[in-house]
Amino acid sequence: MNTPDSVERSAFGTLPDGRRVDLYRIVNGNGVEMEVTNYGGIITSLKTPDAQGRLDDIVLGFGSLDGYLSDAYRQSNPYFGALIGRYGNRIAGGTFELNGKTYDLAKNDGPNHLHGGDKGFNRVLWNATPFENDSGSGLMLTYTSADGEEGYPGKLDVEVTYTLTDNNELAIDYKATTTRATPVNLTQHSYFNLGGEGSGDILDHQVMINADEFTPINETLIPTGEIKSVKGTPFDFTKATAIGERINDDNQQLVRARGYDHNFVIDRASATDDTLVLAARVSDPESGRVMEVATTEPGIQFYSGNFLDGTLTGKGGNAYGHRSGLALETQHYPDSPNQADFPSTILKPGDTYQSRTVYTFSTE
Ligand code: GLA
Repeated sequence: MNTPDSVERSAFGTLPDGRRVDLYRIVNGNGVEMEVTNYGGIITSLKTPDAQGRLDDIVLGFGSLDGYLSDAYRQSNPYFGALIGRYGNRIAGGTFELNGKTYDLAKNDGPNHLHGGDKGFNRVLWNATPFENDSGSGLMLTYTSADGEEGYPGKLDVEVTYTLTDNNELAIDYKATTTRATPVNLTQHSYFNLGGEGSGDILDHQVMINADEFTPINETLIPTGEIKSVKGTPFDFTKATAIGERINDDNQQLVRARGYDHNFVIDRASATDDTLVLAARVSDPESGRVMEVATTEPGIQFYSGNFLDGTLTGKGGNAYGHRSGLALETQHYPDSPNQADFPSTILKPGDTYQSRTVYTFSTE
């Protein structure tokens, strides 16, 4: 397959085992530009116009593969821009039971399993195929996760497609099939700063989340099982509110997560399972940039970059300080394999996992 004109491929670096890693640059008709590497399916750069038409890179990341391979990065492991799997978010105690069998996974987040384990989909090399079609151009990424990889049952064939459209949308389509029943929860872990990466914190960004409820967490950030109303709490984002307005409130949930790091239950009342529903809207009064997130998923993790502490320096030469980016990870609820009352994340042989999320960029 020939690389279409709208996609450019270059070398991004070499893995310790000698494999070459590529970077793909995708540009749409309005000059919106995205860079993706086949290492971890990481979106390394995304340039969108502000209200004056000025392009800035609005995602956190590094300019070369070395940034993602460095010890400092691996130790703090913020998952900048990466594809997350086989199971996005936490699994309590790193263990779950399925069909009468207990599966033990890596405990890579205190006592819990996080984002697929020691070597999740964010750290593997994907096969990449650039494409151009009626809706835009982009990259199709495929990866086969072996039976037993990171402790999960079943050989999982995964396909993730990034499409950049001329409507300034980034559409992400996820597909997976398995040979044995397994939990699957795929997501994308870009950190956005609508003022431009490295430009400071995101506390002035206004956020709306289309959720009347969220899933409160225990001390280790595992859902307690309760589905709680956001009414009268700092988790009520049904009307656009500045992130910083309540983030330091004396609220047990905020204290536990050191800010926002919670799953919101998207209001899908009148929607069928495969329809896109607006999950969140973010705007930056300073630059005028707006981002909307629509998804077929039932949940979204709003993470306010609480673990960023300035030790990592990004591609533009600026340190990524506390809350200098935010993530909105569309997903099924955390710890679903251990929570019978949450929507199931178990994929069975013969079935196809399918999920779609669309980020739309505009200005006001
Ligand atoms: C997710 C988690 C956070 C944190 C980040 C990466 O958003 O919910 O707690 O682990 O990933 O730092």
